[in-house]
Amino acid sequence: MEHRTPGVPAPAGLAIDVVMMAAGKGTRMKSAIPKVLQMLAHRPLAGHVLSTAQALHARSVVVVTGHGAAQVEAALPAFAGDTALHFVRQEPQLGTGHAVQMAVPALADDGQVLVLSGDVPLTRASTLQALVALSAGQHLALLTVDLPDPSGYGRIVREGLTVRAIVEHKDASEAQRAISEIYGGILVAPARLLKRWVAQLDQNNAQKEFYLTDVVRIAVSEGAQVVAHKAADALEVAGVNSAQHLAELERAYQHRGALALLEQGVRLKDPARIDVRGTLECGTDVDIDVNCVFGGRVVLGDGVRIGANCIVSDCTVEAGAEILPFCHIEGEGVGVRVGAGARVGPFARLRPGADLAQEVHIGNFVEVKNASLARGAKANHLAYLGDATVGERVNFGAGSITANYDGANKHRTVIQADVHVGSNCVLVAPVELGAGGTIGAGSTITKDTAAGALSVARGKQVGIANWKRPTKPSKG
Ligand code: UD1
Ligand code: MG
Repeated sequence: MEHRTPGVPAPAGLAIDVVMMAAGKGTRMKSAIPKVLQMLAHRPLAGHVLSTAQALHARSVVVVTGHGAAQVEAALPAFAGDTALHFVRQEPQLGTGHAVQMAVPALADDGQVLVLSGDVPLTRASTLQALVALSAGQHLALLTVDLPDPSGYGRIVREGLTVRAIVEHKDASEAQRAISEIYGGILVAPARLLKRWVAQLDQNNAQKEFYLTDVVRIAVSEGAQVVAHKAADALEVAGVNSAQHLAELERAYQHRGALALLEQGVRLKDPARIDVRGTLECGTDVDIDVNCVFGGRVVLGDGVRIGANCIVSDCTVEAGAEILPFCHIEGEGVGVRVGAGARVGPFARLRPGADLAQEVHIGNFVEVKNASLARGAKANHLAYLGDATVGERVNFGAGSITANYDGANKHRTVIQADVHVGSNCVLVAPVELGAGGTIGAGSTITKDTAAGALSVARGKQVGIANWKRPTKPSKG
């Protein structure tokens, strides 16, 4: 449930084994990071492809690595879920046909092979499912798309409706270059056939590469049927080659996600000004103001309102709670809970392990880390609550902090129900404040306090009458 790729029903026919080509260098990225590990919505490009493979119930994914192979092999298992992941190396990189040849030993004979690229992140599982259905476990099926500017791509050459060949741009005649239908870089074929076809590829072409696309000609020459599914949207086959492409696909991904949220009835003030870098699950009547960034897994209950300019990750916000503008909530895998009807911000920071019960109020410039606040507790201004257990209805005064760290270890502060901590207090942990007690403003509390008592720990005020302030020597 990490990612938003909607799943499709499990395939009825042959098991799907994916070959993900990921050996290319990506020179135009001008980056030390391998291209397929560049991040889109806080997930590597190849991680998106793995999510899609999972959504298709692929039996296995064979990743063909080359440039940055060690980095790619180390990074991808975290994104494979329960799909079996295999890596094969392609060195040197002699073309897409050669890449698939390298994968052949890792592919079973009884399945169908779906060839994808690690740098094409926005293909929908439903589109691939349609392609698999068209292939019907028997035919070579190609994903194609019409492009207003097909320059650079392999052209789909047809006779009538039948596909005869894919001709790479560099090998194409003028007439072929006028064809607007291009090969999107994705195909499906029965493993047995594809293995036989890729074994016959050669390098007799303009780029002296093994072109995977030549399997079309070989299949046609054997009398096999080649079918094509035209994607409605060029984004489905769009690859990343530069920082500009990456930014464009990031926007496209976010736009898709925002439309899906609107479709569910989530009220986004502006669908162009929300970023979801993970999953965002929303109840009914959720309002999200502009410029919010969500990360990890965020769950917003019914009627939750998120103000403008909030950064929220790994957090559950329960029904009716309100996050005011400019809050930073970072659960970092540990999680943060904002209880029903709670109010947070503006300008509040909730760190991992912040656990706010119902009706808690956290105000401006308050930081909460690894601390639970029971129902109705309040810390409204300028405060730090770290490693603390705070009881019901506690009022934690402005400028007060828990001193939870002694330089080596963290210690816990326990504040029992109904305590009022005055302003500017330092609670030196470990320490426990008894129920219903009051802590005088400016106190440094180092010892447990008694229930119901007023505890004050500060210098006594002295008054020196008629005090003469020093004066500056007069000039001249
Ligand atoms: C390929 C297709 C072209 C299609 C286009 C769609 C061929 C010969 N041509 O072109 O018809 O229109 O995709 O984008 O297949 N890769 C390897 N090893 C290699 C070469 C490439 O792993 O030796 C990987 C790349 O990293 C990339 C993918 O395969 O992820 C596709 O390679 P790319 O160079 O982008 O393909 P094109 O030549 O542009
Ligand atoms: Mg190429």
